[in-house]
Amino acid sequence: MSYPYQIKNAEEYKAAYKKSTEDPEGFWGEVASHFQWRKPWDKVLDWNFSEPKIEWFKGAKLNITENCIDRHLATMGDKPAIIWEPNNPEERTRVVTYNRLHKRVCQFAQVLTNLGVKKGDRVCIYMGMVPELAYAVLGCARVGAIHSVIFGGFSAQSIADRLYDANAEYIVTCDGAYRGNKDIPLKSVIDDALIGNRTVKKVIVYTRTRTPVSMLKGRDVWWEDEMEHAEQQVEKDGKVSFPATEMDAEDPLFILYTSGSTGKPKGVVHSCAGYMVYTAYTFVNVFQYQKEDIHFCTADIGWITGHSYILYGPLSAGATSVMFEGIPTWPDAGRFWDIIDKYKVNILYTAPTAIRSLMGFGLGHVHGHKLDSLKVLGTVGEPINQEAWHWYHENIGKGKCPIVDTWWQTETGGILISNMAGVTPDKPTYATLPLPGVDPILVDENGKIIEGNNVSGNLCIRHPWPSVIRTTYGDHERCRLNYFSAYPNLYFTGDGASRDENGNYRITGRVDDVLNVSGHRIGTAEVENAINMHAGVVESAVVGYPHDIKGQGVYAYVIYDHVHGDENLTRQDILQTVTRVIGPIAKPDKIQFVKGLPKTRSGKIMRRILRKIAEGDTGNLGDTTTLLDPGVVEEIRSGKL
Ligand code: PRX
Repeated sequence: MSYPYQIKNAEEYKAAYKKSTEDPEGFWGEVASHFQWRKPWDKVLDWNFSEPKIEWFKGAKLNITENCIDRHLATMGDKPAIIWEPNNPEERTRVVTYNRLHKRVCQFAQVLTNLGVKKGDRVCIYMGMVPELAYAVLGCARVGAIHSVIFGGFSAQSIADRLYDANAEYIVTCDGAYRGNKDIPLKSVIDDALIGNRTVKKVIVYTRTRTPVSMLKGRDVWWEDEMEHAEQQVEKDGKVSFPATEMDAEDPLFILYTSGSTGKPKGVVHSCAGYMVYTAYTFVNVFQYQKEDIHFCTADIGWITGHSYILYGPLSAGATSVMFEGIPTWPDAGRFWDIIDKYKVNILYTAPTAIRSLMGFGLGHVHGHKLDSLKVLGTVGEPINQEAWHWYHENIGKGKCPIVDTWWQTETGGILISNMAGVTPDKPTYATLPLPGVDPILVDENGKIIEGNNVSGNLCIRHPWPSVIRTTYGDHERCRLNYFSAYPNLYFTGDGASRDENGNYRITGRVDDVLNVSGHRIGTAEVENAINMHAGVVESAVVGYPHDIKGQGVYAYVIYDHVHGDENLTRQDILQTVTRVIGPIAKPDKIQFVKGLPKTRSGKIMRRILRKIAEGDTGNLGDTTTLLDPGVVEEIRSGKL
């Protein structure tokens, strides 16, 4: 069964695209009419990119959880909303039907209310991939609290910074999380993050690993106790209800922190209505979801992909979404394929890094799996190389499943450029065509639009789509400067791209100082700040280099005033500092000690040179005559790791 807004063939795509550009308000108004509103909008869109001020479905009232849950109950209350696969394959699977999801979300919304959470309050969520994480996210949305989910790979210091930035008063966490053969002590990390914190009033702790945890009287409460109490409040005569808070279309739904080219992560803010409509629309169209399909997105809910394509998009389309607690290589590198056969997964959405890593384990782990339920494959987060694309297509998709290469960002909320499975053609390494409502253009350094085909430039978007970033939390000017000021009246993505003879886009990577490591964004300035905090470090410069599995690796050049112990120990010490300051995900892959960095006379580090050396391309370093001390280049080149 399909959806009223589902595009079924290339002709319909062309027609939808044409309508979306000629009459965006008519187009999106029609799509939005298939959702549940407490009050309809007065105007579909009001916008300017100069402030920026972008308002979709202005004046409408809704609650996203009524769209994701309540409206499905009458017709498919017993349908699985979430199928949860535990880290340990021996442990029991949990199937959360829409009825059950409704009950748990109502209960958790009641818990939040009991603890004093109100509309607009910020709730930080730091949990492993358990169904309770979904209840926490949706419970916040139900009471109108703004959730800020933080990925489990971030350190206490990163959490503390995010708590401070969002002025968060509530935290939901777990005692610990299972990932492969590791237990990660989440509550203990939260405790470290809360040293000296004066704003957090309550910490709700869900028991997953039963790791011993410290529970501070008056501040820390157990999830299970609170939920039990709330159950009696929300369930009367066998009927469950918790009235959802009425939200304005443009009320913030969540904050998600992401790295930019400055040292401080930005709190990207998405609002309720536009995000809801766009994630559901793109979910249904890109993956060509049919109402009986099982969708498996392998991302963590700590990233935007998990927000949009495990939770909000699939749930507002009434889909069944698989949520996996573990990692692709444990107990062995056949885990994804086990899960696909176990649940008869139809759509697999994963990252090129995961594909490359699994390729490395050989086909032995794929053999013995049927994988015949698969209809659509997807990739996200980074460019996919030819080899990985073909491996995925032939060995996983058995040559019959289209691969959707979906390009988008935390800031875009949903997929902007991608083929649609079986509707528009795929082309290896190309994200291909813009989705309806998306108007991409390429510009040169001076902002001049590059027309025609077989060209490349900086990728910008000309017109707002419903889930475009609204602001950066607490600092609207930062949002303007980062995304809307480089080129007037355009949203600047920070990516470079090329366009082929048929108008297909190929994303070539970031053009700013942001790295993409295993599909995760890492700001070089952030890593440099962390390294510079290490005692003995005088200065550092971080660049990316091509990495076979991660796409990009982190290469750090470090000036050190004296080495404590030997160089290798010092490297380990520095890694420890980066782990403390940002988290294990930002650890450099290589650290080269240098005596100086190539700087211009005005003191600017010439990263171009450092990048070339890190890439191993040391033949022609370009013009080095403007350097203050050209001699350092030779020294760095000869010491390359
Ligand atoms: O450089 C692009 C790359 O990932 C960046 C966005 O990262 P993040 O906000 O963490 O979101 C990742 C998940 C949506 C982009 O600026 N990127 C994302 N998807 C692709 C991609 N690069 C190439 N191809 C893609 N399909």
